[in-house]
Amino acid sequence: MEKHTKIGLGRSWSQKAAASRANRKASSAPLPLELKKYEFALRQALKGKRSPKVMVLGATPELRDLAIRLGATCLAVDISQDMLVKMSEVMKYKNDPKNLIARGDWLKLAEIFKSGGFDAILADASLNNVPYKFYDLALKNIWQLLKPGGAFITRHFVYLFDKPKDGIEEMQKKYDSGRLNWVWLVVHIGSYSHWHQQFYNRKTNTYLVGRGIKLLDGWLKNKKFKFNKSDLEKFENLKLHAGNVNHVVAAENEWLALIKKYFTIKDRLVVQKYEWMEYAPVWHLRKK
Ligand SMILES: C[S@@+](CC[C@H](N)C(=O)[O-])C[C@H]1O[C@@H](n2cnc3c(N)ncnc32)[C@H](O)[C@@H]1O
Repeated sequence: MEKHTKIGLGRSWSQKAAASRANRKASSAPLPLELKKYEFALRQALKGKRSPKVMVLGATPELRDLAIRLGATCLAVDISQDMLVKMSEVMKYKNDPKNLIARGDWLKLAEIFKSGGFDAILADASLNNVPYKFYDLALKNIWQLLKPGGAFITRHFVYLFDKPKDGIEEMQKKYDSGRLNWVWLVVHIGSYSHWHQQFYNRKTNTYLVGRGIKLLDGWLKNKKFKFNKSDLEKFENLKLHAGNVNHVVAAENEWLALIKKYFTIKDRLVVQKYEWMEYAPVWHLRKK
């Protein structure tokens, strides 16, 4: 749907990465219990709306399917055409006329789209891909696109400074009991393990995910850590597309101060049994 965008943008993700990322069995797709939290918030946001319009920041097929299932027209915006196309292929509602895509930069949304056109904007940790110095600009753009009282519903991970740090043994126990799954273990190593300082730059709030993956890869090879066979395959897939990924993770109080400029916090949704949701909840925010 190039007609939605004014500007052409360069490719940020290779086709190979997009194909790997679109393999949902082997990816960091939101889990069913997490999707229930999105659904809980989105149902409230769309209640009583006629012909609701939802934007998804990124190509996340599960969020796009959810919005369409709840009756909304859904426009997914990502800078990468490859991601939009590949992720559309794995959608349940890929051929639905309500399923729209546009290539665009989240930092320029307000230049590309009409203000106040969306009832809700959904994202799965999308802003964790944006350099911290642009967080405010991204939030301002989202605020501008929402209708009055519109909802921004996003998983977003923050840094909890006081959370205790784990060693390998504790993390293995958490993995074995399901408190941490294979992909969140990678995030955990970068933030809440004894090794986190090697990967987390406090000045830029950036976690070098590729380095965490390398450390875990070494542990797996040296049998210091054990994944089951299926998770091992998923991890191999992650290695293909996440080696150069950086995550931007600000302290929770910095995030709260920023979002409060534009939004009120309606909910901070978590699934109790998933430890990672302590620091990566689904935020239900309402436009101020
Ligand atoms: C790690 S992936 C996100 C994955 C997504 N949550 C999912 O379910 O697949 C990061 C995505 O963010 C996109 N992206 C990063 N910065 C962007 C920006 N400023 N504007 C638009 N898309 C951006 C990339 O093109 C890529 O598709």
